[in-house]
Amino acid sequence: MSSAKKVIVIGGGIAGYPAAIKAARLGAQVTLLEKADMGGTCLNWGCIPTKSLLHAAEVAHTVENAAAFGIRAGKPQVDFPVVMKRKDQVVAQLRKGVESLVAAKKIELIREEARLLGPGAVLAAASGRELTADAVILATGSAPAMPPIPGLEKAGAWDSNDFLAMKTLPASAVIIGGGVIGVEFAQILAGLGAKVTVLEMMDQVAPGLDREIAGLLANALNGQGIEVITGATVSKAAKQGRQKRLHYQAGGEQAQVKADCLIVAAGRKPVTPGVDPDKLGLAMENGAIKVDARMATSLPGVWAAGDVVGGAMLAHVALAEGECAAVNALGGQRRMDYRAVPSCIYSRPEVASVGLGEEAAREKGDIKVGRFSFAGCGKAVVSQNTEGLVKVITGAQHGEILGVHIIGPRATDLIAEGVLAMGLECTAEELAHAMHPHPTYSEALMEAALSLAGGAVHMP
Ligand code: NAI
Repeated sequence: MSSAKKVIVIGGGIAGYPAAIKAARLGAQVTLLEKADMGGTCLNWGCIPTKSLLHAAEVAHTVENAAAFGIRAGKPQVDFPVVMKRKDQVVAQLRKGVESLVAAKKIELIREEARLLGPGAVLAAASGRELTADAVILATGSAPAMPPIPGLEKAGAWDSNDFLAMKTLPASAVIIGGGVIGVEFAQILAGLGAKVTVLEMMDQVAPGLDREIAGLLANALNGQGIEVITGATVSKAAKQGRQKRLHYQAGGEQAQVKADCLIVAAGRKPVTPGVDPDKLGLAMENGAIKVDARMATSLPGVWAAGDVVGGAMLAHVALAEGECAAVNALGGQRRMDYRAVPSCIYSRPEVASVGLGEEAAREKGDIKVGRFSFAGCGKAVVSQNTEGLVKVITGAQHGEILGVHIIGPRATDLIAEGVLAMGLECTAEELAHAMHPHPTYSEALMEAALSLAGGAVHMP
């Protein structure tokens, strides 16, 4: 690889800045253009601020239940401005961290909107500066999608950005979309004291998730007072005084729901500001930039990564794609492998999965399903976190792991082991025979695998 190569990265989100850092590590001279805050959606308007709010809700839950552990704390009071301030502080701290990482790698950061003029040619729009490079990496991200429901805008519906900028906690909320964002927002609002209804058009929350796990999640949410209505077709939205009203149909019945705030969490769409695909002849597919397995676009020397290429719009996918694009932009031959992409919901209990769900796996062939309930896990009993289970799905003949699905404490951390196991093409037996520390939640994964390899210890 030549060390003198020039690389321009457009977009400083979780695809763009790791791409820039990787390219710099490989010896390239790198320029990064970002028109807003460094860190993109994940850091400023997604993963990080939502996790900060979810953590506040979790703290309230812990305090509320402290008496069970012999700790008297009383009913928690939510100081909402402080909750939001802390979220902003967390974001600011991490953003500063990203900025210093970029500076430490001697990456030139231009805080302007970029325009892609053609392969190897970029304009910094505000200053009019023209830049040239051997390779350009597009990492322009995505924006919330608004479904075509009449009245949404007039009713003052919020998207996820509006939600994260709210000044006061609404007393009640209705959320359109029971996917990842819908569930996490419901959890935040309900956890801080609001009354929440979620309307999901498909027949389960988090469509695509293993059906059993999705059912357990819906039960848990309902148990916390969050009303989850699946199979709901929303027909219109309207403002009624200071409230919003939604008309929908579910189970053959027409119904309405009223709330102080209306939130839309119905997916995101790729965006390409400063990049005109038609003019440039840049191939697109379903609104996303089309790339091959090496993250190459249809234009020579132009690469793309992150939400803008569609697929699973997840931060960890974006980071892997950004690094892959940088390596290949500098002459490497890395290919993206999407077989073991983890997916997480930071709900209570947490949900995490990798690989095929039970239904999808059954369609492909004979399988075995190992289960272990957190009720049998010592650490979970200690922390009173026994709600949930681990499922390990394997091929019936060879025992290869096809999927791991967890609902329960620390699921989003535990799933990393499932990702590693699938990446290394482990069998359930190999996973089961790896010694797991005791007492930990991770034993639940080992026991679920053991149930397919001679029998779990702590299960009758
Ligand atoms: P999503 O695709 O996960 O869920 C959208 C949901 O809205 C779907 O269940 C869909 O069936 C439903 N829906 C769409 N139109 C509807 C309508 N008119 N009425 C009722 N329901 C409707 O998208 P979401 O939750 O907005 O998240 C956007 C992206 O951000 C996703 O790619 C997601 O994976 C990512 N994200 C990831 C997080 C994580 O990893 N924990 C957290 C938040 C977002």
